[in-house]
Amino acid sequence: MNRSADLVAELKRDNAQFLWHPMAHPKAMKAEGGHPDIIARGEGCWVWDIDGHKLLDGVAGLWSSNLGHSCKPVRDAIVAQLDELPFFNTFAGTTHPRAIELSRAVVELMREDGVAAVMFSNGGSDAVEGALKIARQFHKLRDQGERTKFISMRQGYHGVHFGGASVNGNPRFRRAYEPLLPGCFQIDTPWLYRNAFGCDDETRLAELVAAQLEREIVFQGPDTVAAFIAEPIQGAGGVIVPPANFWPLVREVCSRHGVLLIADEVVTGFGRGGAMFGTRLWNVKADLWCLAKGISSGYVPLGATAISQAIADAFDADASGAGQLMHGYTYSAHPVAAAAALATLKVLVEQDIPGRVARIAPLLQDRLRRLERRVPFVGNVRGKGLMLCVEMVADPATKAPLAKTSDLPARVARACYRRGLMVRVSGANMILSPPLVISEAELDFLCSTLEAACDEVAAA
Ligand SMILES: Cc1ncc(COP(=O)(O)O)c(C=O)c1O
Repeated sequence: MNRSADLVAELKRDNAQFLWHPMAHPKAMKAEGGHPDIIARGEGCWVWDIDGHKLLDGVAGLWSSNLGHSCKPVRDAIVAQLDELPFFNTFAGTTHPRAIELSRAVVELMREDGVAAVMFSNGGSDAVEGALKIARQFHKLRDQGERTKFISMRQGYHGVHFGGASVNGNPRFRRAYEPLLPGCFQIDTPWLYRNAFGCDDETRLAELVAAQLEREIVFQGPDTVAAFIAEPIQGAGGVIVPPANFWPLVREVCSRHGVLLIADEVVTGFGRGGAMFGTRLWNVKADLWCLAKGISSGYVPLGATAISQAIADAFDADASGAGQLMHGYTYSAHPVAAAAALATLKVLVEQDIPGRVARIAPLLQDRLRRLERRVPFVGNVRGKGLMLCVEMVADPATKAPLAKTSDLPARVARACYRRGLMVRVSGANMILSPPLVISEAELDFLCSTLEAACDEVAAA
């Protein structure tokens, strides 16, 4: 690495001065010690910061680098594509081979889920935006144009576009940009650890929340509701795993009222939960799927909205022209992103990465759950597959939350960092989502580092 101290100092200064970071106050970067970690290099499941400090990537970039940071087939596909055709668009008059090949690969991969076609974009927020728009257009094509409303869940995260922010279930992402889209409503989340029903029975909790969804649809008027959108496992909201009967119940409620079910699989898609798609964990078929992140293993930005046969049929049946997609981006199905995704999907399938996740994840889950007994500020450890959350509390016995100003999660994260583990903190939650190719020895390192960091902070 060998960067001079001057160069490192200059990068940190320039970062504070010129770069506005997502989800950060620009001013915070300028404060003493406020500079973010500068990650300069990656290899396998490891990254190195600008000072040469080596870290196990416990967050896969940001739920993205599922195949690690040096997957040769993906890298080679990108380089070959750069030599062949770095860019061309897929607007009405043109297309290119990688876009076509990738559309077929995604549809074949998702055929058993009922997918007939796919529309590409540049990331998760785009994928959500596309799904919300297609949902409305679908209803219009069937003379149900009054179906414009969306229902979603509290704690849900669906990206940052105006559509996604409007169905977002966390006020922190909404307040600064309100007023958002009218006609969006949120129901509760079937969250066992904290729920407004005081319910500690999983099956019952799912029934209560599904009933709430149905009441909301009926209250709004089913003929005004376009879709219900949710993550098969909530990620950013704190890795909230729904009870096993929840999604099947939701599917029934939506079908009963002609409401489309949108699965936001931006995090859960492509293996993270231990199945190729999160909806498969719950044996449910959605109507629209939002995909990103793992689709290209984070190598090049790519989003996709997968479309069910019934929706595709409605567009095919349209004779009026109203089914024309007046939506899409210059870089939809960018050839380099499509090449990266094709290579990613090949590795995922050939190496059965979702199956691998299902096999190794219990190691991590079982070990981290022990933190609940070992560490006085760990209230709840939850997760599925390689997505986990360690929720820190003021008092585990009463579940009293940490004070908003508590620096405890940040202190644990810094202790992890010093010991060579990158984790992510969001409020009182420490979120872990390592690359899906992480080895058992690396998982062991992750667990023992986190244990040591928690012990260090608890003893301080
Ligand atoms: C479930 C979900 N949907 C949408 C998004 C937005 O994706 P992006 O940041 O690529 O726009 C995210 C991002 O983390 C997400 O977790």
